Amino acid sequence: MMKKLIPNKQIVLNHYVTGYPKESDFGLRSSTTSCTLSHGSTSSAVLLKNLYLSCDPYMRHRMSDHISHSCTIVQSFTSGSVLVGYGVSKVIESTYPSFKEGDFVWGMIGWEEYTLITTPDSLNKINFTDVPLSYYAGILGMPGIAAYAGFHKICYPKEGDCVYVSSASGGVGQLVGQFAKLMGCYVVGSASTKEKVDLLKHKMGFDEAFNYKEEHDLGSALRRYFPQGIDIYFDNVGGHMLDEVILHMKVHGRIALCGMISQYNIEKPEGVHNMFSLIMKRIEMKGFVENDFGHVYPELVELCIKYLQEGKLVYVEDIAQGLENAPSALVGIFYGRNVGKQVVCIAKE
Ligand SMILES: NC(=O)c1ccc[n+]([C@@H]2O[C@H](COP(=O)([O-])OP(=O)(O)OC[C@H]3O[C@@H](n4cnc5c(N)ncnc54)[C@H](OP(=O)(O)O)[C@@H]3O)[C@@H](O)[C@H]2O)c1
Repeated sequence: MMKKLIPNKQIVLNHYVTGYPKESDFGLRSSTTSCTLSHGSTSSAVLLKNLYLSCDPYMRHRMSDHISHSCTIVQSFTSGSVLVGYGVSKVIESTYPSFKEGDFVWGMIGWEEYTLITTPDSLNKINFTDVPLSYYAGILGMPGIAAYAGFHKICYPKEGDCVYVSSASGGVGQLVGQFAKLMGCYVVGSASTKEKVDLLKHKMGFDEAFNYKEEHDLGSALRRYFPQGIDIYFDNVGGHMLDEVILHMKVHGRIALCGMISQYNIEKPEGVHNMFSLIMKRIEMKGFVENDFGHVYPELVELCIKYLQEGKLVYVEDIAQGLENAPSALVGIFYGRNVGKQVVCIAKE
């Protein structure tokens, strides 16, 4: 059979990145992809038309030529190759029995218009489409699992707990705060602009929020919002913020280490100096990775869809339009330019 080729625009990593990523680290390439699958072959494949890309902070590690942490679960991108990340797609051809043409899926895809997936069991079928499909790059996708598992399975929350969330208006943080409010916790978030602080207080239902960049003394801000101390800290940023928060934790407090975005673009990580407080206050501090929590996904989907329909949960997205704008959207999350979960819309359907 003649292979039919379709034009396929792609985002490539021009070279490995040091320091903060820049748009010039990426390129837009015009390529072609074969859109004729071999039906009857022993191996299954699906051809996807990509709709939404998720801009995720962990992708910064993959832009480095080597990832310094042993036991890491991510690998470097190949310089000159198409970026890969979470996204939402439509199946346009399939030899995999579980997916048919017209199905929507989410999972790991290329940063390109069309992706041929030869391991289709890595994709998740989207069964519920009465929400924006982009939600499967956020609340109903990987960031949702991180927020849900990180809060409910790592922090052991209970009603009345005092919860602090950093990078609170982002894809993960806004959910953690709202999950905590739904449990009857007192919730404070921090973010870098007035617009984000207003969103946290007036749209996402946080009890309080503050602009950490305007606080010259972080300790006094934390004392102001948590005069009795913090039961749960959901850490999205690490570094100096984590170090200070440790001093404000209550006895038997819990810290979930979700991410350390303040450290991703600096050569030498900042130290955390207040560790002795963990001992004296018997604080549990635990890192986690959402990949270990795939089993909570059905629970997350059921709960979030119910709460979204009841208007008890909102999800704020920042949607960049067009594949050509994907590099600037991705770079923007490392400068706090995103307001809500950053996604890129390549095509609506
Ligand atoms: N463990 C897991 O399985 C898992 C899964 C998903 C995400 N994560 C981690 O969770 C964190 C949040 O991810 P997300 O997807 O929700 O991203 P996000 O919060 O939507 O976007 C990134 C935000 O980080 C903040 N930021 C950027 N540079 C910063 C810096 N130098 N210092 C302090 N804050 C900075 C900015 O918010 P402000 O403008 O408010 O500063 C920016 O908007 C990240 O650390 C990510 O790596 C972990």
